[in-house]
Amino acid sequence: MSVNALFKPFQLGALRLPSRVVMAPMTRSFSPGGIPAAKVIEYYRRRAAAGVGLIITEGTTVGHKAANGYPHVPRFYGVDALAGWKKVVDAVHAEGGRIVPQLWHVGNVRRLGTEPDGDVPGYGPMPKVKDGKELVHGMSHEDIAEVIQAFAQAAADAKAIGMDGVEIHGAHGYLVDQFFWEGTNQRDDEYGGSLAKRSRFAIELIQAVRAAVGEGFPIIFRFSQWKQQDYSARLVQTPEALGEFLQPLADAGVDIFHCSTRRFWEPEFEGSHLNLAGWTRELTGKPTITVGSVGLDGEFLQFMVDTDKVAQPASLENLLTRLENDEFDLVAVGRALLVDPDWAAKVRDGHEQDILPFSREALTTLV
Ligand SMILES: Cc1cc2nc3c(=O)[nH]c(=O)nc-3n(C[C@H](O)[C@H](O)[C@H](O)COP(=O)(O)O)c2cc1C
Repeated sequence: MSVNALFKPFQLGALRLPSRVVMAPMTRSFSPGGIPAAKVIEYYRRRAAAGVGLIITEGTTVGHKAANGYPHVPRFYGVDALAGWKKVVDAVHAEGGRIVPQLWHVGNVRRLGTEPDGDVPGYGPMPKVKDGKELVHGMSHEDIAEVIQAFAQAAADAKAIGMDGVEIHGAHGYLVDQFFWEGTNQRDDEYGGSLAKRSRFAIELIQAVRAAVGEGFPIIFRFSQWKQQDYSARLVQTPEALGEFLQPLADAGVDIFHCSTRRFWEPEFEGSHLNLAGWTRELTGKPTITVGSVGLDGEFLQFMVDTDKVAQPASLENLLTRLENDEFDLVAVGRALLVDPDWAAKVRDGHEQDILPFSREALTTLV
């Protein structure tokens, strides 16, 4: 089995990736005070040194008071945090790799008490009040403008410190996705209603990011059918609806779609073997990134439920066939790269037998 398809360069405008292997964004919670420091720099450098073509950083919060939802998540605002990221960029570039930050706002899943400002509730499309206490602040038009501005600023900062593009986190039931999904958006203003109207927040956000970075600076947009609030949720049921959903996002300025699924081999719609990335590429003509259990025999939620489960290395044959057939352009790898910094090099050099299995324990250290 030839793995060449994974190690061909990829070119989009001025962006040239040395391989098709992308490190999937993975929150690691190893940045106390929100600053990516020495261990984090080394963590990303090692992946770039060992054949990863593009690193998408862990979710990193934009400069809005309610953006964060978890402990020790790195910020993407503030002189101290941006100086940390600049060191990450320089270290990755020195190894010939490329890197983009995943820009994140968690929206309504933020709990009162979360750093950095514990008194700030979650912000979301809809308000939530319990026993007279505001748990989620329903976003006004001013709030919307403020959050969009925070994303635009983060993107401008990414460009200023030498990042190779940005990824907007529009997936998994966080803020942008909360606007998309009818389960979390019942607004009766211009940001709610049909999916086209629920997309307005994302469209304005992408347009603002594009305006902030100018033409030629890659914008990746990550989206998913599944939500952490409901793993069986679907935004769209048919290819036609997927096309209608994605085209306005593409028109707003997206260069690459990152199609988040848990198992890359699953057909997205009946009647075709194409997965979500395959359909997205077909419908929009944009390059796509596939993801989900690449190189492992168990999917990523399993280890949360069954904490003793170990995911073993699995064959890449199906993936390689699809990549060779141009179903998608890039392949994001999550847990396999989390546990094994040398995963890509081992695949490239035919040392599959040395690839490490993934277990929950890998989350406790940053190697
Ligand atoms: C520990 C961990 C943290 C994650 N954090 C993020 C994140 O910050 N942003 C995001 O979009 N996805 C996140 N994900 C999802 C991954 O990017 C990826 O889509 C998922 O793990 C499936 O890929 P895999 O099967 O190769 O692990 C995370 C996954 C894991 C395992």
